[in-house]
Amino acid sequence: MDFEFETLGSSVIVTWPDGQTTDYPFIWLRDNCQCPKCFHPSTHERLLFTAAIDPEITPTSVERADDGIRILWSEGEGHESIFTGKWLYHNSIASPIGGTVRESATLWDAASINELPMFDFADCMSDEKVLIRWCAALRSLGVAIVRNMPSHDGAVIEFADHVGYVHDTIYDRLHNVFSDPNAYNLASTSEELKPHTDMPNYFSPPGVQLLHFLANEAEGGETTLVDGYQAAVQLREEDPEAYDILAKTDVGFRLASEKGDIVGQAPLIEVDNRGFIRTIRYSNQLMLPLLIPGAEVKGFYDAYRKFTNLLNTPENLIRFKTQSGDMVAVHNHRVLHGRAEFQPASGARHLQLTYLDFDLVMSRLRQERVREAGEDQVVERFY
Ligand code: OGA
Ligand code: ZN
Ligand code: ZN
Repeated sequence: MDFEFETLGSSVIVTWPDGQTTDYPFIWLRDNCQCPKCFHPSTHERLLFTAAIDPEITPTSVERADDGIRILWSEGEGHESIFTGKWLYHNSIASPIGGTVRESATLWDAASINELPMFDFADCMSDEKVLIRWCAALRSLGVAIVRNMPSHDGAVIEFADHVGYVHDTIYDRLHNVFSDPNAYNLASTSEELKPHTDMPNYFSPPGVQLLHFLANEAEGGETTLVDGYQAAVQLREEDPEAYDILAKTDVGFRLASEKGDIVGQAPLIEVDNRGFIRTIRYSNQLMLPLLIPGAEVKGFYDAYRKFTNLLNTPENLIRFKTQSGDMVAVHNHRVLHGRAEFQPASGARHLQLTYLDFDLVMSRLRQERVREAGEDQVVERFY
C-alpha cells in the first residue's frame, strides 16, 4: 500500500494515492501499537492499558519502515511501533460520515425485487459458497428463500445450527404455527397477519427469522414481505417530521408465554448516532398503549398511519404463496413479514419458526472475507 506521510501537530497525516488524507493522532497510534507487548499476537486482544497512556505522548521519531511507518516513543527506554500501510489503510479514521441506510443494504420495493434470492437446502448445507451467498442476500436484501427443506420436524433448527446457533426467545426453540382453536396469539389463528417484525418486545429483537413451511396446502395464507428500511427512507423523504417522531418516540410492546412475559420499549425506527437506521420494530398487534404526553399523541398517530400506509401499499409489499418445503428467512430488524388469511378446513398449513442473530450472518461473511484475503492479512471492517 503506497502512501506519503508527515507529522503535523500531534498527528501523523497520511496521504493515500487517491489524494485522500487520514489523520492519525499520536495517542491513537500509541494505543494501537501492534507489538507483542501491546497487542497479544495470538489472541489479537489489547494488552496495553489504554487509560495509562500519557495524554501528551509524542514520538521521538516517525520514519518509513519497509511497507509502513516506524514510530519511536519517548516513554521508558523507548518503545517502537510499526504499522504497515495496509493496516493503516484498513483502520483509517473516517471523517464523521452519516446517512440513513448503510451501503451494504440494497433497498427494494415490489417493482425492483423481481426475483427473490432462491437457494436449495442441500446446497446450503453441503456447499459453503452457497451458504455465503445466502448470507450475502440477507445482508443486501434482508430476505432469502431456501427450497426443498426436509419435511421432518426441526429441519429449520438444523439449518439454524448450520449457520451458527439459535437465538432463543419465549417461544419454544422450535416454534410451531398452525391454526389452533385455543390460540394464545394471532399467528396461531387463521386470521390475516399484517406485515410485522417478530419480537419487538425485546430490547434486542432476534436479527433473523427463519420460517419453514412444512405444509402450505390450505387456501390463502400467502406470504407478504416489505422492506422496512425502504419504507422508512420514503417516509423521511415525504415527511421528515413524521420520520423524526417515529425515530424519537418510545413505543412499548409485550409478548407473553408460559416461559416469560417480556415488555420492552424503543422507537419504531431506531436510528444510530450517525443517523443510520438500525432496527425497525413494528407489530400492530403487540403494541402497548402509548405513554407519551397527550399533546404528542395526535402527531404520533399521524406519523404511524403514514408509515403503516407505506408498509402496506402494493408498491412496496410483495405477496406470494410459498410451497410446502420452502423456508423464508428475513432480516428481522429490517424486513417485515405477514400472511393473508387462510381457510384451515381446505388443507394443512404448518410452519416451524426459529431465530438467529444477524451477527452470525455477518460473521460468516467476514470469515469468508478473511479466508479470501489470507488469515494473516488485515481485513477491512464492514457492517
Ligand atoms: C409468525 C408469522 C406467518 C405465517 O408466526 O410470526 O408471521 O405465514 N407467521 O403464518
Ligand atoms: Zn507496543
Ligand atoms: Zn411473525
